[in-house]
Amino acid sequence: MRLCAIAAAGIVISIAGCQAGKKTEDRLAHEGDPSKTGKKYVIGMSQCNRGEPWRVQMDKDIEEAAKAHPDLEVLFKDAQNKAETQQSQVREFVQQKVDLIIISPKEARPLTRPVEEAMDAGIPVIVLDRKVEGDKYTCFIGADNVKIGREAGKFLVELLGGKGNVVELKGLMTSTPGQERHKGFMEGIAGSNLKVVFDADCQWLEPNAQREMKSALSRFPTIDAVYGHNDPSAHGAYLAARQEGKGREKTIKFVGIDALPHEGVRYVKDGILTATFQYPTGGQEAIENALKILKGEKVEKNITLGTRRFTKDNAETGGEAL
Ligand code: FRU
Repeated sequence: MRLCAIAAAGIVISIAGCQAGKKTEDRLAHEGDPSKTGKKYVIGMSQCNRGEPWRVQMDKDIEEAAKAHPDLEVLFKDAQNKAETQQSQVREFVQQKVDLIIISPKEARPLTRPVEEAMDAGIPVIVLDRKVEGDKYTCFIGADNVKIGREAGKFLVELLGGKGNVVELKGLMTSTPGQERHKGFMEGIAGSNLKVVFDADCQWLEPNAQREMKSALSRFPTIDAVYGHNDPSAHGAYLAARQEGKGREKTIKFVGIDALPHEGVRYVKDGILTATFQYPTGGQEAIENALKILKGEKVEKNITLGTRRFTKDNAETGGEAL
């Protein structure tokens, strides 16, 4: 009896499994291959927020890359930095039966389940920049945040001659880039006499970083460097030092991550940041790989993007690849 039930369940599961694959076949048979009929593949893009310049750039990069392909249509949703909103938006895309989802999740844990549900519904998912938990997604695209953090650490060790007091203004620590940029940095300064004397989770936001830096400045008479997990954080720290009115914005070395041309790289050229490390948005790569997936080609499960270091010496000439 029990065996029968297990066998029956197995049949139901395998029928369901076939149907997921059959759905795409049916659609192709019914509508024709969109790339040949001129019909569009619909991609749902779930952006965790459009309040930060780097994310506006990511959406722009996706839009630009998609423009070159008349058979693609991208629907953008902005979750306004709320994980619950992003969960429902992913579920809406599933209900709408888009052909593929790209997601740049706010936080790993709350977005893991909605991504799994999309996969269960037979919709491929590209995870961009921040990760989800586990491996139930089609492909992850992003730069190596551990490496970037490590490079930032090594850079400061050299810059400060192996010793000094550092303030670390972290990104949202429930998102993977925050965790990885911290881990890498600790590896980069390991064995030196650089000490992190103050750290805070600034959730990637400049006003938070400015506020936290204000309290770091009031507690520590000697601060040699600030490691901001992104350029807005490093810039917020600079503003706090300037506001303090003791001229410490000129002695403290500020280092950030992102290197948008009109943000971090600008700050480096203006002498506000000593360095910024590029964090590519991956927008173009997301579209390239989405097309491959939609056409049934295989893609790598993990696609790692490179980074570049920008300092005053090389900012005009496009930085240096690491
Ligand atoms: C924008 C941002 C970037 C950062 C990235 C990490 O939301 O905070 O500044 O590099 O997210 O996911």
